[in-house]
Amino acid sequence: MKKILVTGGLGFIGSHTVVELQNEGFDVLIIDNLSNSTIDVLDKITSITTQKPKYFNIDLKSKSAVQHFFKENKVDGVIHFAASKAVGESVEKPLEYYENNICSLIYLLQEMRTNKVVNFIFSSSCTVYGQADELPITENAPIKPAESPYGNTKQIGEEIIKDTSKISDIKAIALRYFNPIGAHESAKIGELPIGVPQNLIPFVTQTAAGIRKELAVFGSDYNTPDGTAIRDYIHVVDLAKAHIVALRRLLENNNKSFFEVFNIGTGKGNSVLEVIQSFEKVTGKKLNYKIVNRREGDITAAYADTTIANNELGWKAKSTLDEALLSAWKWQKTLK
Ligand code: WQD
Repeated sequence: MKKILVTGGLGFIGSHTVVELQNEGFDVLIIDNLSNSTIDVLDKITSITTQKPKYFNIDLKSKSAVQHFFKENKVDGVIHFAASKAVGESVEKPLEYYENNICSLIYLLQEMRTNKVVNFIFSSSCTVYGQADELPITENAPIKPAESPYGNTKQIGEEIIKDTSKISDIKAIALRYFNPIGAHESAKIGELPIGVPQNLIPFVTQTAAGIRKELAVFGSDYNTPDGTAIRDYIHVVDLAKAHIVALRRLLENNNKSFFEVFNIGTGKGNSVLEVIQSFEKVTGKKLNYKIVNRREGDITAAYADTTIANNELGWKAKSTLDEALLSAWKWQKTLK
């Protein structure tokens, strides 16, 4: 049974990926410092798959802790989710973001090299494209100057991985996520924002649940059909499954170069108002919202060209926006 280390494995995307890895027969080890997740997710994963992943409460900023982990545990691959990811917060706390997201990555790669672990999947983001000049966005779209320290850590992270895999045996794949939403069909795991949600979908579901008074729609004067910004919302389980396909590609040595990049989205863009309409349709709930000014740093539109992921990876998103939003609502209703 192949052993896979999943860092950030108790987080939103990490936990859904652990479930899919276990479903596929992988032996999963999780490192998570619980800075943006809770320990009960471990039991939730176990209740879904009936296999309890081995869990290590390690902070990847501790080089010695990372060294110790790899000395004690032989793994066949690493899927690296653990990172701080709030765009706005990163503007206020740049040093924390660079330290956490970059140092952790460096220590991981150093210990992978020392311990001859060669398969690496990196959680990247469509944020690296900024506002792309052309839509849909292909992997060859120019990388624009980052709009936030968070986005910069993803750009720098990809460069560090590329440079490392060039001079070592490490084979790496960066998956550039578009907007992950929704929850596992069991509604036992899902998105657990701490405090006031920054992202659209948790704010929508919390408004529908009466936790938030009303949703603020950030801007209706964008150059889009209905004036609100467009994003590519992908079901988190579809996203999780993309990691399995990418991991197998590396394990089976089917990668075409030492560092590959894939856009992971649905290929379809939806505006904020379309998301609201879809949510109201599938849940029967009327959403209380108001249009306010644009949010600083937001781009007009982003949705993926998924040709390479479809053809090269043999992966395609299956869930519709309606299905993803309904799964998010089912999950929200389980929360206190
Ligand atoms: C989506 C749309 C908002 C909240 C960010 C990161 C990206 C990834 C996903 C980490 C935008 C609008 C939002 C609200 C709103 N994160 N909105 N009212 O900004 O596309 O992407 O999160 O990897 O890297 O950049 O996602 O969900 O914040 O916003 O109108 O209360 O919803 O303006 O158009 P975003 P989002």
